[in-house]
Amino acid sequence: MTFSGWYNRSLNKIWGFVEDRTGMRKWALRPQPEFTFKPSYWTGAFVAVAFIYQIMSGMLLLLYYEPSVSITTTACGSGTGIAPAAWCSTYYIMHSVPMGTLLITTHLYGAYAMIFLLLVHFYRGYYLGVYKKPREFSWMVGALLLVVTLGMGFTGYLLPYNVLSYNATDVGINLAISLQIPLPGGIVFNAGALIAPFLLGNGTPQGLLSRMFWAHVLLLPLLLGALLYAHIALFESHGIAPPATSDPLQRRRFTEKEDKQHVPFVPHILWYMIKWGLLYLGILFAIAALWPWTLLTWYGNTAVPIPPIVPDWYFLWLFKLLDFQGVTPLIAVTIGTVILLYILFLPFLDRSKRTHPRDRPVFVYLGTCMIEVMIILSVWGQLTPGVQILPPQVYETLVPTFLVNAIVIAGLHWRYRTSYRRRLAASRSAGYGGIYAPSTANPAHPAPNAAEVRALE
Ligand code: HEM
Repeated sequence: MTFSGWYNRSLNKIWGFVEDRTGMRKWALRPQPEFTFKPSYWTGAFVAVAFIYQIMSGMLLLLYYEPSVSITTTACGSGTGIAPAAWCSTYYIMHSVPMGTLLITTHLYGAYAMIFLLLVHFYRGYYLGVYKKPREFSWMVGALLLVVTLGMGFTGYLLPYNVLSYNATDVGINLAISLQIPLPGGIVFNAGALIAPFLLGNGTPQGLLSRMFWAHVLLLPLLLGALLYAHIALFESHGIAPPATSDPLQRRRFTEKEDKQHVPFVPHILWYMIKWGLLYLGILFAIAALWPWTLLTWYGNTAVPIPPIVPDWYFLWLFKLLDFQGVTPLIAVTIGTVILLYILFLPFLDRSKRTHPRDRPVFVYLGTCMIEVMIILSVWGQLTPGVQILPPQVYETLVPTFLVNAIVIAGLHWRYRTSYRRRLAASRSAGYGGIYAPSTANPAHPAPNAAEVRALE
């Protein structure tokens, strides 16, 4: 017997046994069409795998981590003086716990990977229009997941209690507590004063650390878990989004009959994901082993010069925004809020029935501008932290980027419209109603007749 024959038979046997004893298929996710056997259809599952690893590694870290700023007298064996317990316990994990450096590095890089994969998942959905009917709520719950995940990153940054993590967290906290919102009639609403007790508690460093700690290990993970449950439940109710299309008549979900012909989730799709998940873990561990994280000195160590304050890469762009001349905390928070509201309500802003990016030039343009702003500001933030950005630099850098972006997208769209009109004219002269062939995702859906096409154009 060949190896693959033996492998498949063994897997079938094991699966038959598990299915017989658990009846798993009944509670597994719905079957999916065969074309979804591509990683691009499961970007969210990658994020979920990354999240599961974060929970597992985080629980191991919890066995040793001490969320306290009390000063230890033994300096946790570092031989460099006295230090806060939070920093010491991190030092202990890295130097005394078996494979502690690998554990903490994979947790940290795992967070970066989760946020990066989340951005991939978000932008895939954005460009391919997966937020359109009937998936509006899936998208909105996803947007909340994005906020909570970033919140996990923010609250976790302080925990090692090193000089950089404390100072960068301080910038974020100060941004929130200095918020003053001017209202009509000359009234100023002090939103910061309202937020401060939630973030700072009694105003001591311990108050801040305790809040960040409990938010990071309990509050936000619970919220993330609950939102993820709703996100997956919505996904289950709609099924996977068919490929993006210019065909406004394409159905956006499969019928029960079609579902029955699809590939079962368990074991096939689950197994497919486990393979990708293992690859993810392999890469994460390899990178962590090659480039382990190093712990900077503790916050409060006056013997060492303070390094430039920079947050983690995913907040760099927002952090740099504060260096723009004339940008106050209120303006920075307003810009962040407008972007968030745009993402949240996108399904109700982009009302066209076509999902293909070539049919949605305005939204493609706005999405690409968001990526450009994030990249340019992050590079600025990394290279020149704290250095002011003057209006001429904005005109020289951001304005040409937006212009080139607009020209490229307008050009591509114009080219597409011309070829589209040509195809439409050719198909009409050949006696067809329109260029829409029965779609591959929905073979049952017939091409529209001439009147339907005219109504859609
Ligand atoms: C912690 C964060 C998130 C996790 C773990 C997650 C997980 C998932 C999973 C497992 C799916 C099923 C299909 C797939 O694997 O791609 C999915 C689908 C989806 N997600 Fe997310 N997601 C997250 C965040 C987001 C965000 C930020 C958005 C957008 C704002 C979003 C929007 C969607 C939409 C619209 C679908 C349905 C797509 C389809 O049917 O192909 N998700 N998500």
